[in-house]
Amino acid sequence: MREYYSTQLAVVVGVLLLVVSAAFALKQSPELLEHRKAAQRVAVELPHPLAGMENCFDCHGPQSDWPYPPRHTGWSDHSCIRCHQGPE
Ligand code: HEC
Ligand code: HEC
Repeated sequence: MREYYSTQLAVVVGVLLLVVSAAFALKQSPELLEHRKAAQRVAVELPHPLAGMENCFDCHGPQSDWPYPPRHTGWSDHSCIRCHQGPE
């Protein structure tokens, strides 16, 4: 009888751990649910001019007021305009 309960307990705890870690993984990286490939995504056009705004990180770094998506972390300011084009 006791053995039966401990097996049941192990199964329940295991399932709980899975659910909790999946929940945290999704919270950290919601893009896990998106099935689009990176190449199919379209970069957002800059709503502001480039001039005087070269230090993208100042305003769009993770701690800033308008953070870029988490998967941008670590990309240099020079790389931004490869994908994001400003208005002329
Ligand atoms: C002085 C601060 C500042 C700098 C520097 C800056 N931005 Fe922005 N950026 C903003 C603000 C403010 C918005 C508008 C945010 C909003 O309304 O959601 C914006 C919006 C954007 C958006 C569109 C976001 C959206 O939700 O539509 C992109 C993409 C973007 N900036 C990229 C860049 C890139 C690339 C650079 C560097 C070349 C840069 N920004 C430099 C302040 C800045
Ligand atoms: C490889 C191409 C690429 C590069 C390089 C790139 N981005 Fe992006 N960016 C994207 C795409 C695509 C999106 C649309 C959201 C997504 O799918 O992640 C995006 C979204 C954004 C957004 C949010 C726009 C919104 O409305 O959600 C901001 C802000 C932004 N990028 C800023 C930057 C900054 C600042 C840099 C330079 C550090 C940069 N990006 C470099 C492709 C790129």
